[in-house]
Amino acid sequence: MDDINQLREAVRNSPDNLPLRKFLANALMKSERYEEAEVEYKDALRLAPDSTDLKVGLAEAFQGQKKTGVGLVLIEELVNRPQPPARAWLVYAKLLLQSQQAEEAKEAYENAIVLDENLRDNYLESEINLRMKAPSEPEKIKLRASGAEAGEDIRDGIDIERPKVSFDDVGGMDKVKEEVRMKIIHPLKHPEIYKAYGKKIGGGILLYGPPGCGKTHLARATAGEVASNFIAVGISDILDMYIGQSERNLHAIFQKARSLKPCVLFFDEVDALGASRSDMRHSAGRNVINQFLAELDGVEYDNEGVLILAATNAPWHLDSAFRRPGRFDRIIFVPPPDGAAREAILRIKLKGKPLGDINYSRLIKKTDGFSGADLEAVIDLAIESKLEEAMRKGAPSPLETSDLENAAKKHRATTKEWFSTAKNYALFANEAGIYDEILHYLKIK
Ligand SMILES: Nc1ncnc2c1ncn2[C@@H]1O[C@H](COP(=O)(O)OP(=O)(O)OP(=O)(O)O)[C@@H](O)[C@H]1O
Ligand SMILES: [Mg+2]
Repeated sequence: MDDINQLREAVRNSPDNLPLRKFLANALMKSERYEEAEVEYKDALRLAPDSTDLKVGLAEAFQGQKKTGVGLVLIEELVNRPQPPARAWLVYAKLLLQSQQAEEAKEAYENAIVLDENLRDNYLESEINLRMKAPSEPEKIKLRASGAEAGEDIRDGIDIERPKVSFDDVGGMDKVKEEVRMKIIHPLKHPEIYKAYGKKIGGGILLYGPPGCGKTHLARATAGEVASNFIAVGISDILDMYIGQSERNLHAIFQKARSLKPCVLFFDEVDALGASRSDMRHSAGRNVINQFLAELDGVEYDNEGVLILAATNAPWHLDSAFRRPGRFDRIIFVPPPDGAAREAILRIKLKGKPLGDINYSRLIKKTDGFSGADLEAVIDLAIESKLEEAMRKGAPSPLETSDLENAAKKHRATTKEWFSTAKNYALFANEAGIYDEILHYLKIK
């Protein structure tokens, strides 16, 4: 009987002996039997659910099996706690490298060896260095060009829109529309009622979900709905490499919105603020976040009349401080459109085009999992094929159900990939059930 079998036998005889279980799991790791190690770590975690050691072990077992996504979710939760153990950084570095994030891996690795010089790993080190891309010349130039001069500010560059689209142009999303009405449209139109109940007006809504399902579209339509100004800001546009400039940019944008009220202020890709990503632990990142929080709180300047919306595909990268009351205290999942919503979207997008008798229920069956953007792509494809046909025949003919069906066959739904990542977070990092809606959608819960 080999050592591992002896250990297994011992564990069988005293199943509650935690050190023994840990020993077995570690032995399995040493023999690169990662799958079995995963099982053992999980069993041990049932006895000691808070053990950091065991979680680091489990993350490493995931890493050994190239289950990078789950591994990262698990380990990021650990390294974001105060004083994570050195080994957690090391495993984090390995996982980051596995997910092609060499620079972040280097940083995590450095954190590990600062804490514990014994963790030095020559192989890992050379792998990281190998994959760190040297900044190429063109990239350096680009950085300089887009970074603008120190001190230059964004004020002149803020685009103000008066959107013509309204909620009627948004198919489905009834629940989301209702939330937006309650949280920001009604308070704007009837502030006296809210005040009578002593309800503080303020805070924003964070929309999250797979790409192309109408987050940006809905934000714009919200502004159209109340005939207000609309300012859309991509977070990466305000992040500036000069210290302090990002904060000033952010403040300038809020001030602009305050001066234009009523105004819908929309922040896209807010996850770029990071905070839970290793590369955002720098103080500059922290300062921008603090500035953002202060602006949201509206202590120094009043945010009345400013409706704040934000969107992200990766809410798990957002600092939880954003979710406190008065900030983004409504977090709304924007799922791919269901059948009725897909029909509504198709009807909206097909309006005004030459149409035959369209059988919508057939199209709905062929477009399960399609986003609004996917449906637009399908219509585009169908029109292209129709144009070819019209050129051949020398005469235009209306778009038929079959044209759209054929186009749908050629197009793959783009939301599936997002769900495979989101599922990991919903399963393993679902604090306070914030991602329950994802699990409901996936019929897991
Ligand atoms: N419910 C909807 N009703 C009408 N059009 C929609 C709807 N959902 C998406 N669309 C259309 O699909 C396209 C993509 O939508 P939008 O840009 O709002 O998606 P998003 O959720 O913001 O995606 P991303 O996460 O990639 O930013 C837009 O052109 C929009 O008009
Ligand atoms: Mg968008």
